[in-house]
Amino acid sequence: MENTQKELMEKIISLCKRRGFIFQGSEIYGGLAGAWDYAHLGVALKNNIKNSWWKNFVENRRDMYGMDASILMRQEVWQATGHVDHFSDPMVECPKCKNRYREDHIQISDDGFQHCPEDEELLSTPKQFNMMFATKIGAVEDSSATSYLRPETAQGIFVNFKNTVDAFHPKLPFGMAQIGKAFRNEITPRDFVFRTREFEQMEIEYFVRADEWEKYFEYFRDEMLEWIEEIGIDMGKIHELEVSEEDRAHYSKRTIDFEFDFPFGRKELYGLAYRTDFDLNSHGLEYIDEEKGEKMVPHVIEPSFGVDRTVIALLASAYTEEDKDGDIRAYLKLKPSIAPIICAVSPLLKNKPELVEYANVKVFAPLKEIFGRVAWDDNGNIGKRYRRQDEIGTPWCIVVDFDTLSDDAVTVRDRDTGEQERVKVADLEEYIKERL
Ligand code: GAP
Repeated sequence: MENTQKELMEKIISLCKRRGFIFQGSEIYGGLAGAWDYAHLGVALKNNIKNSWWKNFVENRRDMYGMDASILMRQEVWQATGHVDHFSDPMVECPKCKNRYREDHIQISDDGFQHCPEDEELLSTPKQFNMMFATKIGAVEDSSATSYLRPETAQGIFVNFKNTVDAFHPKLPFGMAQIGKAFRNEITPRDFVFRTREFEQMEIEYFVRADEWEKYFEYFRDEMLEWIEEIGIDMGKIHELEVSEEDRAHYSKRTIDFEFDFPFGRKELYGLAYRTDFDLNSHGLEYIDEEKGEKMVPHVIEPSFGVDRTVIALLASAYTEEDKDGDIRAYLKLKPSIAPIICAVSPLLKNKPELVEYANVKVFAPLKEIFGRVAWDDNGNIGKRYRRQDEIGTPWCIVVDFDTLSDDAVTVRDRDTGEQERVKVADLEEYIKERL
């Protein structure tokens, strides 16, 4: 059955709610626009994404230093980097319904003006709208107490550049990496977790000599593509966009967007920017090459990844429907390393204590201890359990039946092919490890 892209997105959003991946934020109070809550399976999926990223870009390398900086920073940080003056979007307002829209999201009508999508009123001329969330620190209500929730994790890295150099004495080129929340008061949050007001980023600031920036820009372009493929995003839907000067952030001399064909259109998934020496200069920071006795300001290559956009790109890549004589089987073809649950263990019948005990003690408990992401599922008949596990992307369902009691073997059913094979309980750990 062919879904339209709109239907596909509706199915993914509905699956996320029904099966416990992602819920609307503050839902019981009517929902909060641009805020989403990750539930049990969504957290597992996000953790697998973040762990894969951290392993690939930090742990497996010798030139990368991790950070987990505070979200709140002194307002001087954001004044120095130009975010207070420049981190804004042009916004137009409807005089009647008071809705606000990003100017670049509204088409120009045949009369040459922009009209409100709600009531067709003529929209106002654009005004700049700063997207940082301001807050007050402490009890004193003067301007010196103003702080901002960070709109990018990057600055938590730059302000710790000197501390990191002093602590680890890294030689150029080297990088600093961070995963964490960022906040933007988006005028029009939309498309599920694609554009939200609170989201997570995985960012690297890679410090290089000025004359080497092009080499490392190309290097990280390849590294990003390799990781995108490794986690299982559909490479046929990835496109690179050279961002024009007028569309680049104020700090960037070159940016490539990695776009993805989301069900709601081709849009930015990740960005790769050449930030020059803009940030270190803004903070008055420099680097001393001890061997050459030379003072300099390194230049920066910044690969920047959104965790939430990765979640949608993975779900859209993995969502599959199979028509078996009019009966639709929906499953998430996620890689075992990324799937929220690696395997589900079931006793064939839940009212047979000997099966339940065997499944629990000899199969579920040991696998749970080794792999963690193992589910116990004894709800409904076996067919229903398979359907449920397919829908959340569990690669293997393991069933303990009456034969197990005599042959110490279980049925392992494969999510993608539906094929089943008998595997000795003693070989299960190896069976899964080989395929992970
Ligand atoms: N430090 C550079 C930076 O923040 P960006 O292109 O504004 O650059 C980087 O953001 C990535 O963060 C984007 O490619 C996207 O994956 C994610 N991102 C940005 N704004 C977002 C939002 N409102 N909701 C969800 N993800 C967002």
